[in-house]
Amino acid sequence: MSDYMLAPSILSADFARLGEEVDNVLAAGADIVHFDVMDNHYVPNLTIGPLVCEALRKHGVTAPIDVHLMVDPVDRIIPDFATAGASYITFHPEASGHVDRSLQLIHNSGCKSGLVFNPATPLSHLDYVMDKVDMVLIMSVNPGFGGQSFIPAALDKIRQVRQRIDESGFDIRLEIDGGVKADNIAQIAAAGADTFVAGSGIFGKGQESDLHYYDSIIGEMRTQLK
Ligand code: DX5
Ligand code: ZN
Repeated sequence: MSDYMLAPSILSADFARLGEEVDNVLAAGADIVHFDVMDNHYVPNLTIGPLVCEALRKHGVTAPIDVHLMVDPVDRIIPDFATAGASYITFHPEASGHVDRSLQLIHNSGCKSGLVFNPATPLSHLDYVMDKVDMVLIMSVNPGFGGQSFIPAALDKIRQVRQRIDESGFDIRLEIDGGVKADNIAQIAAAGADTFVAGSGIFGKGQESDLHYYDSIIGEMRTQLK
């Protein structure tokens, strides 16, 4: 597979200069911007909402924005993110009373849709909606915080989803999120993922020149994917 996408999670970026951080990782070769939305209810943390997504668009960010909703409920906020410039909107099936309806709402709002699987969430949630998802996101940590360690059982889950996607014949991206670094990305790709979220693996190193640091870390991840 040649169309791997790197998705830096801005959760670990410097929020005081978010626009510049996003510009720099994109200039360094990142493909999409992973945007973690937490509500202090579905997960025990509170982050950013549609206003910040809109601010990135107004700042001039044209790359796809991959909105990962860790909120409950999900339907109320979906149209707001679509209006704010989201490209993908993914949510956790446990957080929606009507998964099929939420997926349709995302499509009707003009965005690509996806389902997110926590480490203990079964893949059976995909059974009747493969035709309505553009992305499957496998969590390799429990959601809520950056900087956690990769849970190895996610690799087998990735293999199972890869098989489901290939058998379905649909064009569905397979994204991994949590504890992804340059030293495990090749193994995750070999299991079948094609889209890689990395937060603490990219941001927050406090390097003298972030742009050069981002160039080298993103370059290293790309090299690992060859
Ligand atoms: C966790 C978030 C992740 C997080 C990943 O709930 O969904 O996107 O930012 O951070 P790292 O790459 O540090 O595990
Ligand atoms: Zn995420």
